[in-house]
Amino acid sequence: VLIAANAEEAATFAAEAVLHGLASRKTGNPVLGVATGSTPLGLYSELAQRVARGEADFSSASAYALDEYVGLEGTHEQSYRQTLITELCQVIGVKEENLHTPNGFGDSEEQIIAQAAAYDAQLTEAGVDVQILGIGTNGHIGFNEPGSSLGSRTRIKRLTGQTRADNARFFDGLDAVPTHSVTQGLGSILQARRLVLIATGSQKADAVATALEGALSAACPASVVQLHPDVVVVLDEAAASNLK
Ligand code: F6R
Repeated sequence: VLIAANAEEAATFAAEAVLHGLASRKTGNPVLGVATGSTPLGLYSELAQRVARGEADFSSASAYALDEYVGLEGTHEQSYRQTLITELCQVIGVKEENLHTPNGFGDSEEQIIAQAAAYDAQLTEAGVDVQILGIGTNGHIGFNEPGSSLGSRTRIKRLTGQTRADNARFFDGLDAVPTHSVTQGLGSILQARRLVLIATGSQKADAVATALEGALSAACPASVVQLHPDVVVVLDEAAASNLK
């Protein structure tokens, strides 16, 4: 657990953790697991600076997203696919054709379920080197809301009222926020060789303390990181303020 003085320093610590994790890959091109939301933006910008300085290169890397909204096409402005094209691909230079996102759009629930299973298989085959994670105020990672099975795989999950309210800032009001997502499961996330969990701000302090110092429990899905042998948690002082 690394405690940075502020969000800017947290981005630097996280960039180091990501680049070291990628560098330890023995064969093939780097595979990055990526999160959306506000938290990783500082990291993406820090990585972009390293690319500009010639210290990092993502032109051969592929990226796998944690989650996507159900009901939004990958071309929809608020879809996580479009968000990652703008906030990740165009910033650090991952090629759009190498960006993989779950597909939450389809004619039927069965189709979306099948797409989720196919994504999970693709993820397993690719082998994520480093998974970047944010944490929800309710302890979710990806969109694995409290109550998610610790061994879960990529599937449809209903979003809690709290998560929809937290994410309403990206939409035209709460009613426009989708009710469901397709998310990598907790078991899928644990397959990555390294996890880098970032949290900044006092609103994350409770979730961080419960995840890191509380019991391993589906009530706090982020507590599954306790099971992983290679986890770097990067916090700012505010997010770390409830740790013992
Ligand atoms: C995003 C994701 C979520 C976010 C979490 C924190 O792909 O999977 O778990 O990481 O909701 O969101 P922010 O960073 O916006 O506070």
